Amino acid sequence: MDIQYTDSLEGVEVSQFEGFFVGWEKVPTPAVLLKVLQNSTYVSLARCEGKIVGFATALSDKTLAAYISLVEVLPEYQGKGIGGEVVKRLLNKLENIYMVDLLCDKDVEGFYEKFGFHKTSAMMLRHYDKQAGEA
Ligand SMILES: CC(C)(COP(=O)(O)OP(=O)(O)OC[C@H]1O[C@@H](n2cnc3c(N)ncnc32)[C@H](O)[C@@H]1OP(=O)(O)O)[C@@H](O)C(=O)NCCC(=O)NCCS
Repeated sequence: MDIQYTDSLEGVEVSQFEGFFVGWEKVPTPAVLLKVLQNSTYVSLARCEGKIVGFATALSDKTLAAYISLVEVLPEYQGKGIGGEVVKRLLNKLENIYMVDLLCDKDVEGFYEKFGFHKTSAMMLRHYDKQAGEA
């Protein structure tokens, strides 16, 4: 399987995004995902045969703080090292930032522990009626 990794959105089009946000009640469209990527401070993408198969995004003040906002690999591409590679590449961009935070479900804590993340207490607020976003 020939996977290419990039931190650039050059040449990336809406048509290359299908199948993300598995399990979300209100699924953002590919156009919304492209907007999310365009507005993120850093992105890390994995591409296979012209389509995006995995990505990670970070929002940052580029000084002290960064938040890893989204990480996903398409189901049929999981378990092949792709998620690990996109996160590793994103973390390389954040290596000089003091605080690197994320929220995740219990079943992926072990994935993030591999990169040095540890559990803490956190607070969150969600506007579920806005879950699908707007392009
Ligand atoms: C979590 C996710 C991004 C992992 O991507 P992936 O491509 O399947 O992961 P990789 O194959 O790169 O795995 C890298 C390492 O993490 C481990 N790992 C993967 N998923 C794991 C999990 N849920 N729990 C613990 N370890 C995990 C792998 O065994 C591998 O370990 P190794 O380096 O010792 O061999 C992917 O399963 C996914 O997209 N899940 C659905 C969306 C999601 O939960 N995203 C995170 C939201 S915060």
